[in-house]
Amino acid sequence: MTSRQQLRQHIRSLRRSLSAEQQHQASLELVQQLLPRPEVQQAQHIALYLTNDGELDTTALIQALWQQGKTLYLPLLHPVVPGYLVFQLYTPDTQLKPNQFGIGEPELNCSLLRPVSQLDLIFTPLVAFDSQGQRLGMGGGFYDRTLSQLDSATTKPQLIGLAHDCQQVDAVPVEAWDIPLPAICTPTKFRRFSEQ
Ligand SMILES: Nc1ncnc2c1ncn2[C@@H]1O[C@H](COP(=O)(O)OP(=O)(O)O)[C@@H](O)[C@H]1O
Ligand SMILES: [Mg+2]
Repeated sequence: MTSRQQLRQHIRSLRRSLSAEQQHQASLELVQQLLPRPEVQQAQHIALYLTNDGELDTTALIQALWQQGKTLYLPLLHPVVPGYLVFQLYTPDTQLKPNQFGIGEPELNCSLLRPVSQLDLIFTPLVAFDSQGQRLGMGGGFYDRTLSQLDSATTKPQLIGLAHDCQQVDAVPVEAWDIPLPAICTPTKFRRFSEQ
């Protein structure tokens, strides 16, 4: 097993062992951290994810952003190109069904998709991060592939990773294709590593 796989297993079990109460507190603290941020205030079209596998719970954040009139999007596995994500409108009326990983997804409706380059902000999930903003995901490379398309785009979304504090490690073992995150927010702290 590689050190990346070992690190994934270790951090995934750490975050899954958080209690329901700790998860609930963390989800509320996340909202307190994020709502005042200019990156969030200035964004209208915001992509985020539904929580899975002990990830920081985004439910309270989603409600708060809807209340602020933000337009939200969820990732869907790309219907044609394996390994990539597309982002589809998410409203309180959106019906969700589990995808192949058991994570809720809206049913694909191409008229509700928004190109990645036209999102203002993407909140990404992650398994482990370090003090440089390097990111280790679940191992599918979905965000790396999808965000690598942006290199040639003139407009780009802000990227903010979301994680529990216990997901920070000294150094993520990085591969050439990994896309680092310019900012990461945990329940206790908003960290910015680089300007975009
Ligand atoms: N931009 C890309 N183009 C093609 N393959 C990619 C790209 N980014 C990642 N991958 C592939 O996806 C797989 C998983 O990537 P990895 O970074 O380990 O996952 P994660 O980012 O979810 O932790 C790797 O085998 C990698 O080769
Ligand atoms: Mg990666």
